[in-house]
Amino acid sequence: MYDLGRLPPGVASSGANSNTQFDLPAWAEERGIVNHMTSILLTDALQETMLQAARNARTHAYAPYSKYRVGAAVLDEKGQVHAGCNVENAAYPQGVCAEAGALSAMVLAGGTRVLAVLVAGAGASWITPCGGCRQKLREFGAPDTPILTANDEVMGPRYTLAQLLPESFGPDHVSLP
Ligand code: THU
Repeated sequence: MYDLGRLPPGVASSGANSNTQFDLPAWAEERGIVNHMTSILLTDALQETMLQAARNARTHAYAPYSKYRVGAAVLDEKGQVHAGCNVENAAYPQGVCAEAGALSAMVLAGGTRVLAVLVAGAGASWITPCGGCRQKLREFGAPDTPILTANDEVMGPRYTLAQLLPESFGPDHVSLP
């Protein structure tokens, strides 16, 4: 977990007509976030924190079968960043993706919303969250939740969750009237 309180203002915004499912937390406003957005934009400092968390997590990956090491970082509504790595298994389907680990760490720490995601993989074939992880992120994110990608050298393409999982099924579909 990383304490964003040590960082300079971390998040800005763009656009209008909020499509988010939740209000931004107090810490966000204190750090200069404007809450009339279609998507949040991370400052270089916050992006760097998430990048370091994901890359560091990647070094801990247990991937003896695929050799494909992944690290992920999620930013929660309290301004904390939680990381995870992929953990494979000799019974292949039992392996766990890095994003799932990061979400588990977030929930354990009391986080309930995902404001941003960064996934770090290897090489020029940019990683994006697998289909199952897109759905897992959907549980805690919003259509405009930014999903950033990176390798060990540079940042890659960035997306919104809705771009990666359009017309998605989420908690709102099963909530009681
Ligand atoms: N992997 C992840 O951790 N996250 C993704 O979004 C894509 C795939 C892992 C699963 C497996 O351990 C390895 O990468 C190769 O598929």
